[in-house]
Order: sequence, then C-alpha cells, then structure tokens
Amino acid sequence: MNNDIKEVLYNEDQLRDKVRQMGAKISKDYSGRDLILIGILKGSVIFMSDLVKQITIPCKMDFMAVSSYGNSSKTSGVVKILKDLDFEIEGKDVLIVEDIIDSGVTLKYLMKLLSARKPSSLEIICLLNKPDRRAVDIDVKYLGYDVPDYFLVGYGLDFAEKYRNLPYIGILKEEIYK
Ligand code: IMP
Ligand code: MG
Repeated sequence: MNNDIKEVLYNEDQLRDKVRQMGAKISKDYSGRDLILIGILKGSVIFMSDLVKQITIPCKMDFMAVSSYGNSSKTSGVVKILKDLDFEIEGKDVLIVEDIIDSGVTLKYLMKLLSARKPSSLEIICLLNKPDRRAVDIDVKYLGYDVPDYFLVGYGLDFAEKYRNLPYIGILKEEIYK
C-alpha cells in the first residue's frame, strides 16, 4: 500500500494536533447547545471518530451515505442518497462532518436537503479543501487544511475503496488512478 503513495502530506502527529484544535473550538462554540454531528460515509469516519473524542460537550452522532463518485477519481455531479439520517434534526444544532471538499457539489446538495428539515443551525466541518477545484459556493465553518489538487488517500479517504486505513494522508501516485 505504501508503495502506491508518492508523498505523505500530513502525518499522524500533524493530524492529531489539527483534530485536537478543531475539537476544542467546537466544544467552546457549541457549549450549551444541542449538537448533532453528521458524518458523511464513508470518508469521514476516521476523522469523525478522532474528532468526537476531542469534543468535551455532549453531542450525538448520526451518519448519511451519499454517492457522487463511483469508482472514478472525478465527480459525476450526481448525488445519490444511499442512507438517510436516523434522527430528526428540527431545532438541533447540526454540524456536517466531511473528509474533503472538491467541486463542492456533494455538500451543496446536502446543505439544501438538510436545511429544509429546519435545524436551528447547520454548519460544515471539513478536514481538507481543494480550493482550485471548487465549482459551487460553499461556506465551511471549520476547515483543517487547504490542499493542492492531487488525488489524496488515507485517514478515511479512498481510491476505489482502498487506502482508507492508512494512518496518514498521502498523495496517490498518478499511475494508480490514471
Ligand atoms: P465534491 O462533491 O466534488 O466536493 O466531492 C467530495 C467527495 O469526493 C469527498 O467527500 C470524497 O469522497 C471525494 N473526493 C474528492 N477528492 C478526493 C481525493 O483527493 N481523494 C479521495 N476522495 C476524494
Ligand atoms: Mg466523502
């Protein structure tokens, strides 16, 4: 697996520090509120499980599965809901947890869908952002890192369902996905 990685972009220590900072900020900002974190499966799972351990206020966890990519490395622009939420979110403070924003199409669609359910607040936390690739406007409340336009894997991010379990975020060698 490691042979398929061109370069490690963020190692375990860097990710741990970043997630700790983000968790502390959320704990402060959402103190006394009714927080629900919504992880977007499957990419956000590792990030979200590390993040909730750094949140010191009560919070609930829920998940949604959407698909916009298939097995290709480029977005299709079509978002399909594969699994909806278990909880009602009306009147709740909702934070969508994403691994990476690329075109922004997935999050744009989800924001519209979830805001129709009348949460008291609806915000996004995202570990990685590719600003060069943005096709639609998205407001991200908590962002880990702006990253260059490479195909990244590890720490939940996959290529064709592989590499999610790498403990770091790395750049996938081009010959693997081209
Ligand atoms: P968007 O709708 O184009 O913003 O796509 C966002 C989704 O595409 C993310 O949640 C990821 O699942 C996937 N994605 C985008 N860029 C990458 C990448 O570099 N590596 C792995 N998955 C990616
Ligand atoms: Mg994703």
